[in-house]
Amino acid sequence: MIEAHKIVEGIDALPTMPIAVSRMAQALADPDAGIKDVVDIVKYEPGLTGNILKMANSAYFGSTGPIDSIHQAVTRLGMQQVFRLVVISSAHTTMAPSVSGYDMPSGALWRHSVACALATQCLAEQIGVGRAETAFTSALLHDVGKLVIGNCLGIDFAAIEKYAGDNGVPFEQAERQIIGADHAQIGAAILEKWHLPQEVVAGVRWHHEPDALEGKSPMVDLVHVADAICVSMGLGTGRDGLYHRPSSSARTRCGISKLTMEQVISRTLGAMNELADLFSLPKEEAYHAL
Ligand SMILES: [Fe+2]
Ligand SMILES: [Fe+2]
Repeated sequence: MIEAHKIVEGIDALPTMPIAVSRMAQALADPDAGIKDVVDIVKYEPGLTGNILKMANSAYFGSTGPIDSIHQAVTRLGMQQVFRLVVISSAHTTMAPSVSGYDMPSGALWRHSVACALATQCLAEQIGVGRAETAFTSALLHDVGKLVIGNCLGIDFAAIEKYAGDNGVPFEQAERQIIGADHAQIGAAILEKWHLPQEVVAGVRWHHEPDALEGKSPMVDLVHVADAICVSMGLGTGRDGLYHRPSSSARTRCGISKLTMEQVISRTLGAMNELADLFSLPKEEAYHAL
């Protein structure tokens, strides 16, 4: 078991999310907020503005012609879509490093996180879930706890893997056994420290155990199903991927059909390729069937 204060120190060592994310979340929740508010949030951050414009001009994010200002991006794509671009761009620095314990090279966690967020967005659109941007943010950050477990605690990952293999249990259960906490619990603690909304925190906390959440949550179910889709596609998983145990109940609760899953996979692959150049991601070629 790892001492609790070491986990807290690991959490404290992570860079915080840029303030633009929480300000954008507030703007979205405010019925009186408009284009000017969004422009004011991002205009003083040149890197963010540049990335948003590049993404806004990709076909996946709905571009139908050149977009050359944030004002135009909000007008043409809407506040929700620009919010997603802000979150993706802002999370890049935090999520891009390698995660040694999980055998994830530089960019692998980022690739998995973006794929999961895009798959969540597709699922939410297909089944008509409200507050899709909350699910999107949760999905993008769902494995952030791996950065602490995999890089900061000096843990023997072979012991975790052996426990999972010997006992036929999911990797996160083995994490709890060896470390005293799993990456979902640590991820939730990170997001609480970053003052992200409770719904976003819940999506991270329960992304491996949607059935254990009292009262259930469509948003948590969506993040879980999207994560399972990305693992099945081999998108940025590490040594824990083999021990992943998706819940079929979460999929049933959301009414997600096999056909919807296939459509989401195809759209997610397309979107990942749209973003590949921007974030130096490898191009996706194919996926194996679910
Ligand atoms: Fe996870
Ligand atoms: Fe994941």
